[in-house]
This record gives sequence, C-alpha cells and structure tokens, in this order.
Amino acid sequence: MNFKDYIRVIEDFPQPGISFKDITTLLRDGQAYKAVIEELARRFKDKEIDCIAGPEARGFVIGAPLAIALGIGFVPIRKSGKLPGATIEADYALEYGKDKLAMHDDAIAPGQKVLIADDLLATGGTIATSINLVKQLGGEVVGAAFLIELLELNGREKLNGVEVFSLVQY
Ligand code: PRP
Repeated sequence: MNFKDYIRVIEDFPQPGISFKDITTLLRDGQAYKAVIEELARRFKDKEIDCIAGPEARGFVIGAPLAIALGIGFVPIRKSGKLPGATIEADYALEYGKDKLAMHDDAIAPGQKVLIADDLLATGGTIATSINLVKQLGGEVVGAAFLIELLELNGREKLNGVEVFSLVQY
C-alpha cells in the first residue's frame, strides 16, 4: 500500500509557505490506518520494547494503537498544564511556534526501553524534547517511529543518534 496516496497535502496551512501533510484522510480509511500500524508493529516487534511514548495530539493517534498492537503500554507526552499528577517539563520550538511538553514524573520506570512514536518528524524539536524527558525519567530510548518524515528539515540530526524509522518521506 502506498501511504502517500492517502495523505492529503494542503498548501499554506497553518501559515503561508507551510505545505501541511494532512493525515486525517488516511485515518478515516480503516484499511490504510490498520496497515500503517501493522507495518510499524512489524518493524518493532522483536525489539523488546517496554512502552511507547507519544506527544499529543497526533502522536496519540499513532502511538496508542501501536502500543496495543505490540501488547505494551502507552505513555502520553502532553502540552504543559494538562497532566494532573506531578510532572517534569521542557521547553521546545516547533516548525511554526513554541510550547512546553510534560510527562508524569512516574510515567516510566528507570531502565525501561521506550519507543517514541509520532505522526510526523519535521524539525525534530518535538521528538528531541520528548527524548530528553524520557531520559530524565531514566528510560532508555530505543528508537523513534513516524508515519511521515520531512527530509529537508533534517529532524534526524537533532535526535542525538536515536534510530529513526519513517514509513513515508517528503
Ligand atoms: C506536529 C506533529 C509533530 C510535530 C512535528 O504536532 O504532530 O508532533 O508537530 O514537528 P517538529 O518535528 O518540528 O517538532 P503539533 O505540535 O502541531 O501538535 P498536534 O499534534 O497537537 O497538532
């Protein structure tokens, strides 16, 4: 299955010059969505991963079903102010904007092997920050999995050697 056929590209959203990769057109197709999750699960099933961590909101859409497919837990990485328990937080810069990401301070046990999952690797700011948060909690980041990678933004280079796997590249 060619996943690009299911991803809609919308020019100049959310601001001029950005070519937005809209995955809602893929998600609404049950077979395409399932195939994405199955392909990611195949790639990571033998890696002895303990849990998936994914940043809101679109990271949940990839990370949570991937966790179920692998039979492991899912840990949400949220924007600041959303998690009810004690958190650790870190600032990050986006392709278009700025924010703060947070995790519960007991979300990951020291030594756990964590796979980070998201829909899209762009500048890498979101995932670099997610990696830092997981490491602060003592987790071992064993890789980062994406549906889409925007090659020209060189996000991989920000991830300090963490292995990147993406299904579709632009
Ligand atoms: C998007 C996307 C990734 C991130 C990629 O999320 O889902 O998480 O940007 O960009 P980066 O590699 O430059 O950091 P966004 O922050 O727009 O939030 P959303 O998922 O809630 O729409």
